Amino acid sequence: MNRREYLKKSFAGAAVLGAASLGLPANSFAAKVAADTWHNGEYVLPELNYAYDALEPHIDAQTMELHHSRHHQAYVNGLNTALSRLAEARENDDFSIVKHWSRETAFHGGGHFLHAMFWEIMSPNGGGEPRDTMLRNAINRSFGSYVGFKRHFKAASNAVEGSGWGIMAFEPNSGNLVIHQAERQSDLTLWVTQPLVMVDVWEHAYYLRYQNRRGEYVDNFMEVLDWDKVAEMYEAAASGR
Ligand SMILES: [Fe+2]
Repeated sequence: MNRREYLKKSFAGAAVLGAASLGLPANSFAAKVAADTWHNGEYVLPELNYAYDALEPHIDAQTMELHHSRHHQAYVNGLNTALSRLAEARENDDFSIVKHWSRETAFHGGGHFLHAMFWEIMSPNGGGEPRDTMLRNAINRSFGSYVGFKRHFKAASNAVEGSGWGIMAFEPNSGNLVIHQAERQSDLTLWVTQPLVMVDVWEHAYYLRYQNRRGEYVDNFMEVLDWDKVAEMYEAAASGR
């Protein structure tokens, strides 16, 4: 097995980020975006459904071309590189720079997924207010009115500090919609993932028992981690229940 084959196998075996391993509802938009850009063990740049000049005059053709072919491609490349380095780290059992590649995975992965969805939600025939009754009801329920949503979304997007995104998202517990400001692409996470295992490493979670020995705390967390529960969550997410 050569290195490339190993890395592909390693991705699949470790269930890192492949569409089948995202833990997303199978019919969700994010899952579709992920699946559409995952080919032969790596992520690829999705094609646009329209020409670069199709969104003129609102978004100019040159911006679209640079944004898609250069910027988005760079995120795809960065994500693949980061995943490859993490696979090497596992192969060599050397996690000395795992922090760096984890950040790179989050940054480029966030960039890739957000752009892939961004292209999908734009259209030359777009604009106006939502017509779908379910979506209108959700917006009214969540923001009071369409105008309320629009004012909130614009204000939040305009006020993102530095580079980043304004995002309206589905919050599955309440069934409501929420608006995020995402500085850069993410805060060390990917917007399309659904958390399955999480450990709180704020000092409030371990200081009384472990003081500054966070590693010992995490070791002990693994001893109480309920994998049956994690499996239950995963199966529910993957089947869209
Ligand atoms: Fe962008």
